[in-house]
Amino acid sequence: MPPAVEVSHLVKKFGAVTAVDDLSFAVEAGELFGFLGPNGAGKSTTIHILCTLLSPTSGTASVAGFDCLKDPVEVRKSIGIIFQDPSLDERLTAWENLEFHGMIYHMPKSLRRRRMEEVLRFVELWERRHSVARTFSGGMKRRLEVARGLMHQPKVLFLDEPTIGLDPQTRHKIWALMSELRADQKTTFFMTTHSMEEAERCDRVAILDHGKLLALGRPADLVREAQAKNLEQVFLGVTGHDLRDGDASDQEISRGRVRKMRAWA
Ligand SMILES: Nc1ncnc2c1ncn2[C@@H]1O[C@H](COP(=O)(O)OP(=O)(O)OP(=O)(O)O)[C@@H](O)[C@H]1O
Ligand SMILES: [Mg+2]
Repeated sequence: MPPAVEVSHLVKKFGAVTAVDDLSFAVEAGELFGFLGPNGAGKSTTIHILCTLLSPTSGTASVAGFDCLKDPVEVRKSIGIIFQDPSLDERLTAWENLEFHGMIYHMPKSLRRRRMEEVLRFVELWERRHSVARTFSGGMKRRLEVARGLMHQPKVLFLDEPTIGLDPQTRHKIWALMSELRADQKTTFFMTTHSMEEAERCDRVAILDHGKLLALGRPADLVREAQAKNLEQVFLGVTGHDLRDGDASDQEISRGRVRKMRAWA
């Protein structure tokens, strides 16, 4: 089976800004992959290239074995995406948003209707399915976007901060559904999050900063390698930010150990 995602020497420049800087890594089919990095690290830009919404300046990217530049139609058929920025049609009801999505994906009516009910019940918007999306709270809108991303059961699901602004109950549900989809459908999840608690639940994580890959591995291995207390300490060490509520010795630990990891990544 080809890797779910593969990027090689990927570069994306916006004028003088190099958002993605010689990025290379692969994600295996079925993995839950955490794509981490501070604001502006290049996460969303990379996801947009993988979803064929942006062309790279140089380098290659493929999803489910299809080249993002040469075979964008096949890539699009293989993926689902939950965008960082809101992308619902606010004039439509929850039901209509999903119906429209299912039609774009050519889901047969019976399957479409079944999945619409399943995902709407799951995110607890079934009772509100005939309300216009504009009238939803921020969290309800996000839940509807998550429901929409899960509806057509893609091979690779890109989730750009899927749990942002959600209450713990909904986050918990989304993680439960992700586990279910991984077990049943072998879906690959490629997600960004600023929650280190969520990142620690990923099979592997990549940590980027300024478009460059600084660390890649299983969270527990990264923590052990850096002799850090947890992934947050690794993250702050690698990206060079001061630790929140940390003392000098915390910073010393992670900075010293992380030098080794930079060379390794
Ligand atoms: N369309 C664009 N035009 C110009 N610059 C852009 C564009 N999109 C992104 N950038 C720049 O590229 C860099 C990476 O942005 P990106 O959105 O990929 O970061 P990110 O890692 O997703 O950050 P965040 O955690 O804040 O979502 C930033 O410096 C950003 O300003
Ligand atoms: Mg982003």
